[in-house]
Amino acid sequence: MERGIRIADLFKEEEKWPGKTAVVQGWVKTRRDSRAGVGFIELNDGSNLKGVQIVVELEGRDYSGLLGQITTGSAILVEGLVAASPGKGQSIELRAERIEIYGRAEAETYPLQKKRHSFEYLRRIAHLRPRTNTIGAAARVRSRLSFAIHRFFQDRGFHYIHTPVITASDCEGAGETFRVTTLDPARPVSGQTEDPYKSDFFARPAFLTVSGQLQAEIYALALGQVYTFGPTFRAENSNTSRHLAEFWMVEPEMAFHDLEDDLEVALAFIKYLIEVVLGECAQEAEFFNRFIEPGLIERLENAVRRSSEVVTYTEAVDILSKSGEKFAFPVEWGCDFQAEHERYLTEKVFGRPVAILNFPRALKPFYMRVNDDQKTVAAMDILVPGIGEIIGGSQREERLDVLLEQMSMKGIPKEDYRWYIELREFGSAPHSGFGLGLERLVQFVTGLPNIRETIPFPRTPGHAEF
Ligand code: 4AD
Ligand code: MG
Repeated sequence: MERGIRIADLFKEEEKWPGKTAVVQGWVKTRRDSRAGVGFIELNDGSNLKGVQIVVELEGRDYSGLLGQITTGSAILVEGLVAASPGKGQSIELRAERIEIYGRAEAETYPLQKKRHSFEYLRRIAHLRPRTNTIGAAARVRSRLSFAIHRFFQDRGFHYIHTPVITASDCEGAGETFRVTTLDPARPVSGQTEDPYKSDFFARPAFLTVSGQLQAEIYALALGQVYTFGPTFRAENSNTSRHLAEFWMVEPEMAFHDLEDDLEVALAFIKYLIEVVLGECAQEAEFFNRFIEPGLIERLENAVRRSSEVVTYTEAVDILSKSGEKFAFPVEWGCDFQAEHERYLTEKVFGRPVAILNFPRALKPFYMRVNDDQKTVAAMDILVPGIGEIIGGSQREERLDVLLEQMSMKGIPKEDYRWYIELREFGSAPHSGFGLGLERLVQFVTGLPNIRETIPFPRTPGHAEF
């Protein structure tokens, strides 16, 4: 079929285009007709934010009938002469010479009208919302960031490991797993009480993974530096603006790295990704700065320019309890930080990303390395303004006896983790890693108030349509 040029490519070499003919294909954002017999179509093909302006000279051509059918939302092809644009805000435009309509959209019933729609409304039309400026821009930023995540690690010699989506282990030990089964709850298998899983697909309890870390550890203890990057699933019943039931996590795992090394990589990683957005998604960043979060670009530039704050959990508790601030959840040593505490630290106290190290042992999963004080583990959480936790990581417990003690303390069945324990029996080595939630990162760099706008099809309690 006739293939045009992507609109973004027109603007990449905009000086060379005026005077030439181009074919573009896309969806009509708006159309207006001037009294002087000229029609203007804003056409967008998703390749960039702004699209291109099409000028249709009605005088002397038989466009009048056609133009009436080119309503907002229609898919069309335009062939035209590229010309330097007199209008402000864009350098070139297309003077239409031929227009074809692929698919019309009924003006009255097209769900995306010219006005601004609420994000809640747009979620109900997730099949059309990527055509809006905001969701389209978020999708492009997410795509660039995903690629940049691979680039960061590949450039540094990390190997990409595909860890399983279906697993028998609950890495974080929070019991927030989705069960994977082929048994029909409406038709219980009769007479199978001693082993209810006997006739299930895997003949054992199986779940969607909450994290690829434990499997990444296996490969780190063979390939040195690895990362896994894929979807993870958590059945946490938290209906917040920062939680999804299905989200993407990138998890590097590094042999011969302690917590300090881990932190260094994590901070360099965040900076790198922010620079990607400022440099490679400049149009989108400006858009979000203007319409979603005023001051966004300055906040991001700040996060790149200034070094992050690093405090211990104990210091953070001290700062919070002396702050005089009234928190819904009071702060004392041993408490888990709530969103309100995390945001107070990054937004009010430091005004930039903060890393918190060495959390109480009781708060964190079994795999984290126990510190010499026996009370804390070598954990790190990185918090950013506006979101709170964006990265969680730790040095892993490489000492067999301490790992076994941790597992007993936390009630982790050792027979299910035989392989994990054996890694400490055969060539155990210090290692560490972390997990970054892709959607929280996109939220951070776009200023989008709700995480549900950072992923094409959000999965939250009660919502799995599309
Ligand atoms: O802190 P978490 O639970 O850490 C782990 O899963 C470790 N196994 C990672 C590792 O060390 N390899 O999760 C890591 C990050 C969080 O900081 C957050 O950004 C994101 O994953 N995250 C979520 N994002 C969206 N919705 C949720 N329900 C999330 N839960 C965690
Ligand atoms: Mg965490």
